[in-house]
Amino acid sequence: MLSKEIDGRLPIYFDNACQTLRPRQVLEAVSEYYESFPACAGRSVHKLATEVSLRCDDVRAKAASFFGADDPSEIAFMKNTTEGLNTVIMGLPWEKGDEVVTTDYEHNSVHVPVLCARDRFSLKHRVVRSSEDLVFDLGAFEEAMSKKVRLVAMCLTSNVTGCTLPAKEIVDIAHSYGAMVLFDAAQAAPSMRVDVGGLDVDFMAASAHKMLGPSGVGLFYARSGSVGSIPPIMCGGHGVVDTTYDSYTLLPPPERFETGLQNYSGIIGTGAALDYLSSIGLDDVRAHEAMLNSRITRALRGVDGVDLIGPADPNLRGGIFSFNVRSLSPHDVAMILDNSKNIMMRSGMHCCHPLFHALKVQGCARASVYLYNTSEEVDVFSESVKGLAEGFRKR
Ligand SMILES: Cc1ncc(COP(=O)(O)O)c(C=O)c1O
Repeated sequence: MLSKEIDGRLPIYFDNACQTLRPRQVLEAVSEYYESFPACAGRSVHKLATEVSLRCDDVRAKAASFFGADDPSEIAFMKNTTEGLNTVIMGLPWEKGDEVVTTDYEHNSVHVPVLCARDRFSLKHRVVRSSEDLVFDLGAFEEAMSKKVRLVAMCLTSNVTGCTLPAKEIVDIAHSYGAMVLFDAAQAAPSMRVDVGGLDVDFMAASAHKMLGPSGVGLFYARSGSVGSIPPIMCGGHGVVDTTYDSYTLLPPPERFETGLQNYSGIIGTGAALDYLSSIGLDDVRAHEAMLNSRITRALRGVDGVDLIGPADPNLRGGIFSFNVRSLSPHDVAMILDNSKNIMMRSGMHCCHPLFHALKVQGCARASVYLYNTSEEVDVFSESVKGLAEGFRKR
């Protein structure tokens, strides 16, 4: 998909867990907005504004169907996953002593708002520890549950290991204790069906930029029966029915969560991304990722000096291969592969600092593949990592 050479070589883009590339259809949808109807939805009544309103309504309906929501009004456009997660974690009508349960590998976008809410509302935070190979432990989760738990906030697919939670079991157990469930689906939504209706989950947040869409669009699901009176993080124009000098009345969801002028080109581009993904089919996306990840794992399994982060079985790790090369820092690994082969990866703590502190490692390098990556690219990557491990073993 990246067709421009850098230093005489095509880039190998393996940073898909950060942002994916965008197909031409998405770029065209974004351009069409600016070229043909660059107006504002839901305010002015002229033809261009009406066109934007209709297009955004259409994307909302598409997103509802993509995620199996009962009604489009359960989908709100936000600027990213983080905004959706904060809306729930900071906005629930907490009572002192309520408990919130997370995993030990949350992204900071769940972890930090949970700690802020804990301090602000005097909550208790319970962390479910994973097994030794960093797989979610359902038994440990059940032990953490009690009637005091108000919210289970969990990363559906880990951005470090690529492992996915047993979502339905978690929702059923949480509901049996009267707790609500919020899934951080930033990494799950790009490559598996997150069927919010079928799962019966209360809240879910994802980002378009990780699923072929433009930057700056978050997709937030709040089940109509669960959203209650959660207030928006930001208040202002467009989110209200009426205001007087001393009062305001918020609109119901989703409009109350969409205050101020929205990212219309991004929302419309997101519609094109959802169409593109639907036409390929998420099962095929997942199967392709699994094929590539198995190929990497076969090539690097048992290579002296390469340490995998996560379970050995590639089928548990989606499109993510996180690793360290012994005696090199993760950033060195990423920079060497970038400089020598144009392999673009992420390195560091991946916004999961507590997990790496617990593992007592300074982070890792992460190769994350997606639907357009090829076996040839994977082979270049695996050979390069092998070469690196060999080179530094001899020192
Ligand atoms: C698992 C997970 N959760 C949350 C986020 C935050 O997403 P965003 O930056 O779009 O808010 C990310 C981003 O990498 C992620 O991987």
